[in-house]
Amino acid sequence: MKLSIFAALACILVSCQSINYAPAVETSQRTGAQKGQHINWATLREGRILFVHRCIECHTLPVVWHYTTDDWPKLVDSMSARASLKPTERDAILAYIIAARAQM
Ligand code: HEC
Repeated sequence: MKLSIFAALACILVSCQSINYAPAVETSQRTGAQKGQHINWATLREGRILFVHRCIECHTLPVVWHYTTDDWPKLVDSMSARASLKPTERDAILAYIIAARAQM
């Protein structure tokens, strides 16, 4: 019993090391975008670049699956003032986060 818990823990620890914290988003993947929202591949790519550059200025890169899809819009809103993001940059980052999260 104890052993299996350790095995599971070891598994989690080892796999964590190989996780990409800002994974590329597959175009074929469901983006989790809301209805009527036009999200294209260029936006997701831009969002990913902005995310890894701008969201790492004050803290380590936030882990996308640590927060829910419902929490992210509020988080990015509150951070976009801090990161001085333009509305389009904010939208691109959010689209990337939601899409990256959806493919995990
Ligand atoms: C100018 C500094 C700064 C920048 C740039 C910044 N943050 Fe933050 N962030 C903070 C600080 C300070 C905190 C600590 C919590 C707080 O004060 O709200 C934080 C906390 C967070 C948290 C944890 C919030 C919680 O309640 O657990 C997340 C997630 C986050 N930031 C995401 C982002 C994202 C995404 C971006 C890029 C758009 C970003 N941050 C850019 C300063 C920054």
